[in-house]
Amino acid sequence: MSIDRRTLLTGAAAFAAAPLASPLARAASASQGAAAQDEAYWARVAAQYDRPESVIQLENGNWGMMARPVLAQYQQAVARVNRDTSFYARRGMGRDLMAAQQRLASHLGVATNEIVFTRNATEALKSLIGGYNRIGPGTAVLHADLDYDSMQASLVNAARLRGARVVKIDLPEPATHDAVLAAYAAAFAAHRDLKLVLLTHISHRTGLMLPVRAIADMARARGIDTILDAAHSLGQVDYRLPDLGVDFIGFNLHKWIGAPLGVGAMYIRAERLDAIDPDLADDHAKLESIASRVHTGTVDFAALLTLPAALDFQAAIGAPAREQRLRSLRDRWVRQVRTHPDIAVLTPDDPRMHGAITSFRVRRCTSDADNRAVAQALLESHGIFTVQRGGVAAGACVRVTPALCNTMADVDALAKALQELAPRMAKG
Ligand SMILES: Cc1ncc(COP(=O)(O)O)c(C=O)c1O
Repeated sequence: MSIDRRTLLTGAAAFAAAPLASPLARAASASQGAAAQDEAYWARVAAQYDRPESVIQLENGNWGMMARPVLAQYQQAVARVNRDTSFYARRGMGRDLMAAQQRLASHLGVATNEIVFTRNATEALKSLIGGYNRIGPGTAVLHADLDYDSMQASLVNAARLRGARVVKIDLPEPATHDAVLAAYAAAFAAHRDLKLVLLTHISHRTGLMLPVRAIADMARARGIDTILDAAHSLGQVDYRLPDLGVDFIGFNLHKWIGAPLGVGAMYIRAERLDAIDPDLADDHAKLESIASRVHTGTVDFAALLTLPAALDFQAAIGAPAREQRLRSLRDRWVRQVRTHPDIAVLTPDDPRMHGAITSFRVRRCTSDADNRAVAQALLESHGIFTVQRGGVAAGACVRVTPALCNTMADVDALAKALQELAPRMAKG
């Protein structure tokens, strides 16, 4: 069921192996920035995706498009699972699923027994937050305004059920590396009963990327555990899980890795398994396995079985090249509007603090309705699709999420549209 790289690259997609070698690999001596600008190469990558015809799609944050060779592999897997049902499920599918899990573990740089598949990031993070058993009366948990709504709710509800206190902070805006670190340091110092902090690696609201390693190290020094929401960072920026210094991580593979919808995973560092309670549906025989910490039932097996093909596609491009390209798409539009008097760009240019996603706010447009109107105007007057995001303490915004299917012309069109639209829609 797994796809080998040659099949992927030389199949119907005609994504021939030689041109696929990324510009970073081909031009080892060239700067990464220059390689990311190799438009002929990136046009071939973008051509692997079926883009919507009627709009410039700059809202790729909801989920990621599968590249055409991955989609083809998924269609084959669906057909096989549908045709062979239990004849396959009981005679070999387990082995193929284990191969997919091993492949993912090696991609992440962790042991196979430290990860388990889930259907999405929500399922993984709910299991981690709900199962975390080191909180109770006399302890506190911390989250921030930029965390994902359902993760904030999970943390608040878990704290209530276990009798712990909840602390919420607002992250600084404009954000800088030092100001973000200082915000967490101040919260850790002010609340000595803290036992758990929820961090979101890349915010789905503004695109802000947290210096996770530094915050998690600071937390650990005070005996505070970190649960990390990596829903948006895996595949958007290049790292391996151990780089983050976090024991509990939830993420999906259907945003930036380009796997079919319904593929996520949960990571628990092997030595920390006992800090997460087993799932209610699990029996005691499996307590030593991470699989006992989330119990999903029947899932879209074809989606899981397609994961190796998605990882092959990503590997053919290479993680550093991919990250560099995504950053270039973001930098290109940001550079054109950064100093515009009617536009606030909500991530700093410090590369430690953003990936591909960056939100903006038109002057004094701080309500959800204001930002819905801005996104609507971008769509109706300029054919550019984005999305408004609320929940930011300083006010709502519009999120821009380019992906590998986009071109520089797409983000240039956005910058031009913003220059026309911002003076018209700014308030005050
Ligand atoms: C920051 C963040 N966390 C969690 C999630 C939930 O991910 P999933 O839809 O895979 O459950 C999302 C989805 O957009 C997200 O942006």
